[in-house]
Amino acid sequence: MKKLLIAGNWKMFKTISEGVQLVNIIKAGLHRITTCDIAICPPFTALSAINEALRDTKMELGAQDMYCETEGAFTGEISPLMLKDAGCRYVILGHSERRQLFHETNELIHRKIATALKYNLSPIVCVGETLEQREARQAFEVVKNQFDHCLGSLNADEIDRVVLAYEPVWAIGTGKTATPEQAEQMHSYLRRLLNEKYGNLVAGRIKILYGGSVKPSNSAQLMSKPNLNGALVGGASLKAESFIQIVTNACEQTFSGSSKS
Ligand code: PGA
Repeated sequence: MKKLLIAGNWKMFKTISEGVQLVNIIKAGLHRITTCDIAICPPFTALSAINEALRDTKMELGAQDMYCETEGAFTGEISPLMLKDAGCRYVILGHSERRQLFHETNELIHRKIATALKYNLSPIVCVGETLEQREARQAFEVVKNQFDHCLGSLNADEIDRVVLAYEPVWAIGTGKTATPEQAEQMHSYLRRLLNEKYGNLVAGRIKILYGGSVKPSNSAQLMSKPNLNGALVGGASLKAESFIQIVTNACEQTFSGSSKS
């Protein structure tokens, strides 16, 4: 059975000391958890300190973005080598806030994914449609386009190290969650795209997370769907109690031995 992955995306919240304090409470609340993978993605400034705080746990560290070059004159950017050095295993790439507010294109995201893989970072690649696109019945086309352009040229070995995240833009930070059925529909579509390209075995191994207003009250239902392999949690990851509850719900899901392969 695939372990679910719950990743907390702290976005631009938490100073170093606030972050360490939060992680210490999460650690205490989750010290018995072994049936679930957990990642914490704080802002760049807190990476090293959080890495230190996570040292005696199984929780992993992730960053929220990176540039697609190893080093150079790119003022303000951060490289995969620096993220590795700070202890990261994951890096979130192609988040809708990066796409919308910082005009990141599929082409740039693709280059970032390729560079992350080269340096052994697992990219958590976000795809998802806006409300307008959903209402115009273009959700599947938009997601396929992002999938093709961001991931299209990866080989099976590379895609194996990618985590996908379906994050409908209309559900991010809005309190509106996709229903478990809406999420499952898109997740199974993504699984089919993976299947067509890489075959059953590889497609079955890839984790597809759901993101968009995941909270303790909806996480168990979402995670019960066969093609949902975890969650990318924004707002609810900033409070220890809600993050702990979401992880606990996910672990119970794994433990109850659902039909997930
Ligand atoms: P949210 O954010 O949980 O606050 O909706 C999710 C995300 O942006 O990854």
